[in-house]
Amino acid sequence: MCGIVGYVGRQEALPILTEGLRRLEYRGYDSAGIALHRAHKLAIFKACGKVREVISTLPKRIRAHTGIGHTRWATHGVPSDVNAHPHCDSEGRIAVVHNGIIENAASLRDQLLAQGVRVVSDTDSELLAHLIARVDADRLDDAVRTVLRSITGTYGIAVLDTAHPEEIVIARNGSPVIVGIGDGETFVASDSAALVRYTQKVVYLEDGEVARLTASGYEVTTLDAAPIARAPDAIEVSDGSYEKAEFDHFMAKEIHEQPECIRRTLRGRLDKRFHSARLDGLNLSANALLGFKRIKVIGCGSAYIAGLLGAKIVERLARIPVDAEAAAEFRYRNPIIEHDTLYLAVSQSGETLDTLVAIDEIQRKGGTVRGIVNVVGSSIARKCAGGIYLHAGPEIAVVSTKTFVATLIAFTLLALYLGRMRDLSPSDGRRLIEALEALPAQVSELLERESDYRRLAARYARYDHAYFIGRNCGYALAMEGALKLKEVSYIHAEAYPASELKHGPIALVTEHTPTVVLIPDDDLAERNLASIEEIKARRGPVLAIIQNPDHAASADDHVTVPAMHELLSPIAMLIPLQFLAYFAAIERNCDVDQPRNLAKSVTVE
Ligand code: F6R
Repeated sequence: MCGIVGYVGRQEALPILTEGLRRLEYRGYDSAGIALHRAHKLAIFKACGKVREVISTLPKRIRAHTGIGHTRWATHGVPSDVNAHPHCDSEGRIAVVHNGIIENAASLRDQLLAQGVRVVSDTDSELLAHLIARVDADRLDDAVRTVLRSITGTYGIAVLDTAHPEEIVIARNGSPVIVGIGDGETFVASDSAALVRYTQKVVYLEDGEVARLTASGYEVTTLDAAPIARAPDAIEVSDGSYEKAEFDHFMAKEIHEQPECIRRTLRGRLDKRFHSARLDGLNLSANALLGFKRIKVIGCGSAYIAGLLGAKIVERLARIPVDAEAAAEFRYRNPIIEHDTLYLAVSQSGETLDTLVAIDEIQRKGGTVRGIVNVVGSSIARKCAGGIYLHAGPEIAVVSTKTFVATLIAFTLLALYLGRMRDLSPSDGRRLIEALEALPAQVSELLERESDYRRLAARYARYDHAYFIGRNCGYALAMEGALKLKEVSYIHAEAYPASELKHGPIALVTEHTPTVVLIPDDDLAERNLASIEEIKARRGPVLAIIQNPDHAASADDHVTVPAMHELLSPIAMLIPLQFLAYFAAIERNCDVDQPRNLAKSVTVE
């Protein structure tokens, strides 16, 4: 979703800002822009389209040492040049970039119009520039604080003022803002991706905080100007994590990183002495964990689907009821929060607003919530008083692949840990640990069969609709397979429990509607094979993902994945589904890493 970058220091700001914008591209956006301080004036360059299009409009060299940049994902107002950020006041004195949504924008707009201000864009963000310009204050941070006290909604902002050419004022409420500390230079970004090339030293702004950045450092205050002491943290990731290396797309790179991700999520967490797991980060004693009667998982999109699968894994081993729900559905139904329920919030980015607000709802009602999060130091990670970090490394492709797998590993560790506290036997615990240790090599083997997946994808990419079906874990996996395919290849794909097909969707099965059938080698395999017969009777093409070679018989095509511990089979079966989506997108000339309309981190409700 929208991205912010900014620089103040001795170096030329422009190359740092353009590089920062490129690093933010993966978040998904529709327009981009830059504002620079230049000879006591603001130079603004912005356009609808890709970052390279903005860069192509820039003069070769602009001497400026302070500037801000933005990638916009439209909320208020269509994608257009005029709606792109930065936005300025009528005099061109103040420039603002903004992530988030101003909820009282309509009344603020009316007030400004009544005062004769000419508002040129349809955005809520432009209003901030006019409002800041109209405050009579000597200091820019004072003016920003005054305006923010009258705002409701979410924001991460960076502001320039020609009256203060060597500073940037930033503020945060619900939308991340990170300060990067350099030597005689200071950076700001909404995502560490735009910072790691220059510094590993960062300060995370909290909600309700404002900071004034200069080349020599930063001053953080509350909205009421009370100073806050904040020491820098270190970012773990390196610059190389944001490069494609030998791959054509980040999605391919991240699919191939999965064996290593599994090892990283497991690292230091297998307890071979007690055949259990170590999850100290949960910050919950054994006693507290034994007191929970239920677990409720919340998340959005793939994180929710990983939660559905995780719920089945934990329930199976720990023998307590676990269910998962889409975070926004959960928060809007005034949920009953029970004190003997452990709530788990799943999020790759740790910034998804629907999940964040659901956490607020749980905490406000006195519930216990922990995070299963990839991005260290993200809002969700900090809001929950503990959890399980995935340690999957940065995920740059908009669609999640490696973090989905890492989430399943985190749930399996939790299942093992809770199971061994309850009635899972040591020998069953040991069997699962051995299976987890063998998994990276099995996934690597599946990754080597890329050319087979590519051939299949070429065949199935010509259809415009597809079904994915399975039972139990296979159904959750079908949901993920369908979501991946529609996100990157734009093929309309729907997932159903296999048993539901005959209750309606089969009406649409024809020779033009293929079905991907997920058939783990379990006691439901016969039922899944019967579903294939129903589809074949309607001449529907079938691609089966199987574990037992005997299950290939009536499918038109199949992929066989190795037999393994039944709780880990979904991970093996997921690999062909990820590749099916990836190669189908390539066949159809789609933008694999930045699919249309999608954002990596969805920070609006
Ligand atoms: C799908 C995908 C999205 C995210 C969802 C939640 O490929 O990536 O569905 O899973 O937007 O994002 P996080 O996990 O960052 O909370």
